[in-house]
Amino acid sequence: MSLTRREMIKAGLLTGGVAALPVGRAIATLRDEPLDEMLESPPVPTFAVPLRIPPLARPVRSEGNTDYYEITQRVARVPIIPGLPLTEIWGYNGITPGPTFRHVGGRDAIVKQINRLPVDVSVHLHGGDNSPEDDGHPLDLIPPGGSKVYRYTEEESLSTIWYHDHAIHETGRNVYMGLAGHFFVSTEEERALPLPKGRFDVPLAIQDKFFLKDGSIDYPYKDPEEHEPFQQGVFGDVILVNGTPKPFFRVLRRKYRFRVLNGSNARIYSLALSNGDPLTVLASEHDFLQQAVQTDRLPIFPSERYQVVIDFSKYRVGSKIELRNLFEDVPGDPFDPDKTSQIMRFDVVDDASDPSSIPADLGPAPDFTGATGPVRKEWVFERNGGAWTINDKVFDEDRFDALPKFNVPTVWRFVNQSGGWYHPIHPHAEEFLILDRNGKRPRPWERAMKDVVGLGPNEVARILVTFHHFRGPYVMHCHNIEHEDHDMMTQFKIV
Ligand code: C2O
Ligand code: CU
Repeated sequence: MSLTRREMIKAGLLTGGVAALPVGRAIATLRDEPLDEMLESPPVPTFAVPLRIPPLARPVRSEGNTDYYEITQRVARVPIIPGLPLTEIWGYNGITPGPTFRHVGGRDAIVKQINRLPVDVSVHLHGGDNSPEDDGHPLDLIPPGGSKVYRYTEEESLSTIWYHDHAIHETGRNVYMGLAGHFFVSTEEERALPLPKGRFDVPLAIQDKFFLKDGSIDYPYKDPEEHEPFQQGVFGDVILVNGTPKPFFRVLRRKYRFRVLNGSNARIYSLALSNGDPLTVLASEHDFLQQAVQTDRLPIFPSERYQVVIDFSKYRVGSKIELRNLFEDVPGDPFDPDKTSQIMRFDVVDDASDPSSIPADLGPAPDFTGATGPVRKEWVFERNGGAWTINDKVFDEDRFDALPKFNVPTVWRFVNQSGGWYHPIHPHAEEFLILDRNGKRPRPWERAMKDVVGLGPNEVARILVTFHHFRGPYVMHCHNIEHEDHDMMTQFKIV
């Protein structure tokens, strides 16, 4: 007799990793409810809710080269699952994802963050050119009732970045409760390209959450008293796109550009279309690829972003095309993979003219200056005596593990030595080029500037980075947020 994955989960045979309780069983124990009930959110209708597009962030004023914004972080009750009571979320301006910033590169954005939540927060603009004071260091907390002004001096370079909470040891819960939003930086050159624009340039934040029968989002702690999160990562069995569960999106017969963000705490996706047609990738986090690349599977790790074009003119009016997730076995995921295999559906509803096109040459060739230099620092990611470690250590606010030089091209080597686990590694402060993975060229869609590198089991990657914005202290961590909250984080200081 062979057991399905789900039966093994029920029998407690599949722990998804080392020395840790399966998430599902632990949830059941905590709540004293039968396991099979606890392993499932209430039923969610598929493709029944229209995709929500987050509103744009509007400056409260603009002066000279600076746009001023005010964001209030607050508790809100919003409809998420049809037929269930309203869900309490924590949101930037009370919505999740928060408002989308469409920032003109070269201008400054000054964002006042007001904390009306009952918890400490810190705001990190992930992928931004932030000074150490404005970076949202995990210990630079805004207490309830407080506020902080973040000054972002974005250089003029194309970026699909995002902002999210970064409070020490509580980032997982805070992001899961809704504290995340898109932030796009455009350049003059990009605005002049004939790519899909305006309402045809669509943010898609993919997240997974677990809901209770009363409609509430349930962030499970391994130890609720100590607020210790689950080591593997916290997953959900409901896929949300822009906060809407498995939505449908009405499209015209033309090209659309999507800014896909994996805003999940721990889930890795492999994106694919249900009809097998390829996705066209223009860019990852920063700058365009030299040329667009096509792939029928696009893996996307937590915190990664991709700019993807889908041309719906190939399909007849009435066609329905699903965006699927083909990544099945994320270690530590207690849920039935069938529940997370559908992400959203595109419904082709009408004809349209399409003035957009994808230029044959999109971006400049990557700059490999310094790529042949020595490895300045090796970072080893491991599971050590039940802890997630970087070079055998866990986070210590008083320690710096590297002192990279300002404006000097630097090669770092990342080694995943943690068995079957995946680690998306994100150094703050600077984007970088992936030089190689296990000695081979990075994937075709990774060959431009990035700010996170997804390390697969036993993978080794080298990156080339030139820290050139600010000197000072920054963190680097795994972006499986529960790994991060378990102190899989280090600090370096640019000198
Ligand atoms: Cu997206 Cu340190 O984070
Ligand atoms: Cu990790």
